[in-house]
Amino acid sequence: MEITISPNYDEMSKAAAQVVAELVKSKPNAVLGLATGSSPLGLYGELIRMHREDGLDFSKVRSFNLDEYVGLRPEHEQSYRYFMEKNLFDDLNIKKENTRVPSGTAEDYAKHCEEYEQEIRQAGGIDLQVLGIGSDGHIGFNEPGTSLASRTHVTVLTQQTIADNARFFEKKEDVPIRACTMGVGTVLETRKCILLASGKGKVKAIAQALEGPVTSMCTASALQLHPDTSVFLDQEAASGLKLLDYYKWVQQNR
Ligand code: F6R
Repeated sequence: MEITISPNYDEMSKAAAQVVAELVKSKPNAVLGLATGSSPLGLYGELIRMHREDGLDFSKVRSFNLDEYVGLRPEHEQSYRYFMEKNLFDDLNIKKENTRVPSGTAEDYAKHCEEYEQEIRQAGGIDLQVLGIGSDGHIGFNEPGTSLASRTHVTVLTQQTIADNARFFEKKEDVPIRACTMGVGTVLETRKCILLASGKGKVKAIAQALEGPVTSMCTASALQLHPDTSVFLDQEAASGLKLLDYYKWVQQNR
């Protein structure tokens, strides 16, 4: 894994946005895997700026989001479809029909999950997957104990994830209990991953994911088996890493 430690969230977001922008320039019909949440917001803001100011073109880009809450309609303000439209798609020239987010209201989830996997395959696979990390070490909504070979599926969120995500809802009871998520196996098949983490709340999860054993108890640790993952951290999120000085040394000399 290539680790880039930035002084703050904004610098971290800019460094990660460079990687996405380079891909979109070199492969205009790139397939992006996208995440929601606080971690990629700055990266998305930077992509919007590059689109506006530098003409970064998304007209041929396709995208697949990692996950969606089960029970929320696309127009619900806390749905991940809504999040993506307000925080990225509406401000880029990406075609809405080229963007996919798992359904929050599928009648037959087994079928929907299989079709989602099939659509990713038909698109030629995901070129670059954007990831955040949960305080319990999840990627997507692959909670502790999820098989590292899992594919897109419906999962039950941990109490910790529900508490973490309650900040976006009026009250904790409004947070959906289930979500449809790409599996760890789905993520491991993407050609490149970028994992973003910032702030004190991510110190433990990042240390376990990067330096702990590969274990389903921290599904982000499976990225140690991914051949091309770049990790973008701010100083705080990186502060619990045992080899912090070494990563900084590598960063200066690569
Ligand atoms: C979101 C997702 C989650 C988040 C994670 C971190 O689509 O898949 O894994 O990336 O919960 O969330 P934030 O960035 O809000 O701390």
